[in-house]
Amino acid sequence: PLHQTDYLLNGEILAWKGEVQEVLSPVCFATSGGAVRQVLGSFPLMGEKEAMAALDAAVTAYDSGRGLWPTMSVADRITHVQEFIWRMKETRDEVVKLLMWEIGKPLVESRKEFDRTIDYMVDTIDALKELDRVSSRFVIEQGIIGQIRRAPLGVALSMGPYNYPLNETFTTLLPALIMGNTTIVKPPRHGVLLFQPLLRAFRDSFPPGVVNTLYGAGRQITPPLMASGKVDVLAFIGSSKAADTLQKAHPRPHRLRVSLGLEAKNPAIVLPDAHLRLAVDECIAGSLAFNGQRCTGIKIIFVHENVVDEFLKLFSRAIGNLGFGMPWECAVSLTPLPETDKTGYLTELVKDAEREGAEVINEAGGMVNGTFFYPALLYPVNERMRVYHEEQFGPVIPVVPFKNIEDPIRYMVESPYGQQVSLFGRDRKQLSALIDPLVNQVCRVNINSQCQRGPDIFPFTGRKDSAVGTLSVSDALRAFSIRTLVAAKDQ
Ligand code: G3H
Repeated sequence: PLHQTDYLLNGEILAWKGEVQEVLSPVCFATSGGAVRQVLGSFPLMGEKEAMAALDAAVTAYDSGRGLWPTMSVADRITHVQEFIWRMKETRDEVVKLLMWEIGKPLVESRKEFDRTIDYMVDTIDALKELDRVSSRFVIEQGIIGQIRRAPLGVALSMGPYNYPLNETFTTLLPALIMGNTTIVKPPRHGVLLFQPLLRAFRDSFPPGVVNTLYGAGRQITPPLMASGKVDVLAFIGSSKAADTLQKAHPRPHRLRVSLGLEAKNPAIVLPDAHLRLAVDECIAGSLAFNGQRCTGIKIIFVHENVVDEFLKLFSRAIGNLGFGMPWECAVSLTPLPETDKTGYLTELVKDAEREGAEVINEAGGMVNGTFFYPALLYPVNERMRVYHEEQFGPVIPVVPFKNIEDPIRYMVESPYGQQVSLFGRDRKQLSALIDPLVNQVCRVNINSQCQRGPDIFPFTGRKDSAVGTLSVSDALRAFSIRTLVAAKDQ
């Protein structure tokens, strides 16, 4: 077992002596009483007092914008981040192993998550150099010489989700840091142990108080932080409800800058002339990569009634070809699920759809074994079913037949979410005509390809309950800073 009893506060790695919370791996072992989750280790169950200590450290290091970090030159901050990247690279093997054990992410995907995080940081440095070069130019206008400077916002609270505990924490933490903010990092409950190997890298690369770590039950420790009114930036990736609670806890929400990546129910629309094999391959990847646990996943598929039978046949065959097993096994894409009783929730969704007239089309679909859930392809799905509305965040694939393109568009108009859509078809004229109505519902229209976040230079955001603010390598730099002006009279 790995006991993550250390935490980083004000530049010191301290040993936690209080209550701890057990970390259960999604990987199970068999007992006479059924499958039991492997105990992986534990992490500190911190309380309000520790949350306030982390906040104090970050507030002190920021020192109302007078601290060492917020006043440091961009070039020097970049040097600190570069040092951090070198140190973090040393932790690759350990972090990858923990991604597999803690959240059940397949080996190849775990490596990708680590490498993508490093690439993101390197690209951020390049983007910042460019931003700084462009914005530091002097402009003379009506006798005033102006220079625009990007300045930090204050103290940022950065919280990532369990499905990308490393990568998505860093997509907000890194831009917050490099723009001169001081930070508190609260890792998700699943994917917390992998922050242990990073503590020394943080401590040795940044001045005291610039990065502070906080562990525990988010519901208990983060609302008091927000209620203090001293958090200037909330960077949260997770559920829309939790984001709401956090924002409402702030006494002066108008002073709070937020960067939120929230829920989504991205549809795929398969037109009658679509290349069906391509559509199936992309929808399989879109709905089942990492067991469907991606905010960018395809979570409902509308297929034209002329081609739906063929689509379902190809789709169930493709599910049968997917590797099912432990994260470290070769060619595996379906792995155990980390969330407590996730298999129970998914089973409920399937049963509810069956009661309302849908069927599980693929062989063994919906079968549960410990923390494994075999993908369930559900058809025909309609609006009376929970799976039509709820973000399943797991391997359940609802398929809805349609006759008129207005039906899937209406679905998007009425949806509380608005992140992405995938559109499959061949007729370019018809595809082009659909782009405008679709892009006005979401923030990314994928033509003949799955929904996804990357490449990270592309803007990543959403409408309605799906997101606030835009995250991409360069957009994030703007999200965590403010544009200021130094203006001098031309003499
Ligand atoms: O869970 C949401 C992630 O942002 C998904 O990212 O599309 O790169 O897998 P991805």
